[in-house]
Amino acid sequence: MDVMTAVLTRRSEHQLVEPAPNDEEFAYLLRAAATAPDHGRLRPWRWILVRGEGRTALGRCFADDYDGPQPRREQMQTKPQRAPLLATLVFTPVPDDPAHRASIPEWEQLAATSAMAGSLILLLHARGFGSVWRTGRFTQSERTRHTLGLRPEERLLGWLYIGTPHHPRAPRRRTPEDITNHISVFTPQLLPL
Ligand SMILES: Cc1cc2nc3c(=O)[nH]c(=O)nc-3n(C[C@H](O)[C@H](O)[C@H](O)COP(=O)(O)O)c2cc1C
Repeated sequence: MDVMTAVLTRRSEHQLVEPAPNDEEFAYLLRAAATAPDHGRLRPWRWILVRGEGRTALGRCFADDYDGPQPRREQMQTKPQRAPLLATLVFTPVPDDPAHRASIPEWEQLAATSAMAGSLILLLHARGFGSVWRTGRFTQSERTRHTLGLRPEERLLGWLYIGTPHHPRAPRRRTPEDITNHISVFTPQLLPL
């Protein structure tokens, strides 16, 4: 699949079933995704793969953390069952320490992380897998952070729900929206001093 086709046929897939990439396939695709632009090559991120029993435990954690009505609590419990693989994206910013490595502002590290995630999503799609990046209230939850073993300086950026689309459709190319009003061309002018 060429890059333009991958970009124009990708969609967030909400109903995902087996198979998902196994650990080796995930690592293979991530190695490629990690070549995305990354100022200072800091790799300021890590992934925690959640499968099988892990999804049940994470669902229990979501339910325990939810203080709303019981039927909604049960919904929280089943959230991680919506895909066979939940790849947890953790932002691990390298502190601004000139003595350490090149000082790269945190926003640039977040941009690099986002670029890597975007590449991974496209690579998954090109391999026939579907995914959707989900965030929501539990990215802020201390219980969830603790359950997943996050360190205080790390930030939970959500989960890439990954699997095979339940109802595979013929790939349809999107018609890109007109974004020309997001582009301007700099015209140097002689400004009065
Ligand atoms: C950082 C980020 C967080 C997202 N969080 C959610 C989410 O919590 N729930 C959800 O259904 N989709 C989430 N999405 C997916 C977007 O809703 C989706 O990309 C958007 O609706 C456009 O759909 P498309 O991906 O099919 O083009 C998120 C996407 C990004 C980039």
